[in-house]
Amino acid sequence: MKKRDFLKTSSLALGAAMLPLSFWSCNKGAQVVRTAHIGVGNMGFEDLKAIASHPKVVVTALCDVDQHYLKTAHALFPEAQIFQDYRRMFETMADQIDAVVVSTPDHTHAPASLLAMEHDKAVYCQKPLSHYVSESREMRSVARKKGLVTQMGIQVHSFYDYKLATMLVQGGIIGKVRKVIAWSNKNWGYDGPVPEGADPVPASLDWNLWLGTSQERPYKEGYYHPGNWRKLMDYGCATLGDMGVHIFDTPYAALELDVPNTITNHCRPTNGYGYPERNSVHYTFEGTPYTTADFEWWWFDGEAGPKISDELRLPTGEALPEQGAMFIGEDGRRLLLPHFMQLPKLIVEGAYTDYDIKAYDTEETLGEAIRDYARESPKHYHEFIESCLGNGNCSADFDYAARLTETILLGVIAGRFPGQVLHYDKASSAFTAQEANAFLQGNHRSF
Ligand SMILES: NC(=O)c1ccc[n+]([C@@H]2O[C@H](COP(=O)([O-])OP(=O)(O)OC[C@H]3O[C@@H](n4cnc5c(N)ncnc54)[C@H](O)[C@@H]3O)[C@@H](O)[C@H]2O)c1
Repeated sequence: MKKRDFLKTSSLALGAAMLPLSFWSCNKGAQVVRTAHIGVGNMGFEDLKAIASHPKVVVTALCDVDQHYLKTAHALFPEAQIFQDYRRMFETMADQIDAVVVSTPDHTHAPASLLAMEHDKAVYCQKPLSHYVSESREMRSVARKKGLVTQMGIQVHSFYDYKLATMLVQGGIIGKVRKVIAWSNKNWGYDGPVPEGADPVPASLDWNLWLGTSQERPYKEGYYHPGNWRKLMDYGCATLGDMGVHIFDTPYAALELDVPNTITNHCRPTNGYGYPERNSVHYTFEGTPYTTADFEWWWFDGEAGPKISDELRLPTGEALPEQGAMFIGEDGRRLLLPHFMQLPKLIVEGAYTDYDIKAYDTEETLGEAIRDYARESPKHYHEFIESCLGNGNCSADFDYAARLTETILLGVIAGRFPGQVLHYDKASSAFTAQEANAFLQGNHRSF
């Protein structure tokens, strides 16, 4: 499904009604978008409902390696065909699919999305875009080359408070930004040992398909599926790759940052299995029009939260929000962006200070502050579907998503070299430390 071919009006001229996108190979005049969903449990189920809430979506295929989740999703969309293996799905019915939603664990994002793109499908892929830097780069390159509609699943990207924070920062409310400190009190790390032995694989689960391109490993209850894969190096991307993607997104986009020049992660030594439960990651970036030349960024995660420095201290002595970001201007003015759905707070000379939103929203594009997740979040999904129909562009396409994901993943890789300043060259997509380059790509298994 390509961006350039949407001439909706031409179908109306032809009198075509409700024709599927691939009725014309070039998608002219699409009237519905037929979606296939890979991973339909938990977040995938939310993605499925949000995408299907667009009136022009027809859910055509559902795929999950666990029949338990597949059954629940199928009960909601009984007309859809069901699969456990996404490769079989494309073999069987690629010509009946226009757009694919990938909501699997991180290690399967790229293999499933790249296969979908090989079939010229539009792709909505959950965050982070991929498990490896090389995969994000490949996804971006294929999407660009084929001109496909793409969107990463960072639905808060277009929420009111984040758009406002971008306007404030770009409008100079704290002047040039010299530092961002971002944090999450979540702990998607695991400091324990590698579990021994194997547990019986649940009857509903195809463990080989769940492992996909990752290496073979015995199944252990509670360690991997569902959800806990996030804590483990072979499948997830730790707290940084989970909440970090949402929390980085606004400052990263607002300051128009590229990938970093140096990355240092202060955490426990690696054990090659679980991610550290606490990480303090320091990044330096090339300056942009919105930052000072020596701009730097800190990320803190783990249950204890960041240590309170003067830069994080709040005016009335209250606790920091559990997750969020602080922009620090060169003259000491600060902007606090709590995560999430709260107004950004301006702090000047140690006191909260009012600001006039209208002075920053000069083109009145902000709209109303909804702060109701159920009403706000479908926007990001519908933006994808509308883009498939030829109406507008996606705000988190793979061009942007790959850059943001690369930045996140470099911090994750730095966790394998605690305390070491890693220098990164974006042109060659390589660290100067050769030993770190081994982690930019994976060793994919045939399955
Ligand atoms: N944007 C957000 O707010 C948000 C929130 C939560 C999760 N996520 C993202 O959504 C993704 C899924 O997270 P989750 O918490 O739902 O994980 P989960 O483990 O709870 O669920 C994953 C689902 O995918 C299925 N699955 C696994 N491998 C598959 C494969 N190869 N083919 C088809 N189905 C497969 C599982 O059976 C399960 O139904 C992750 O990338 C995560 O980062 C995003």
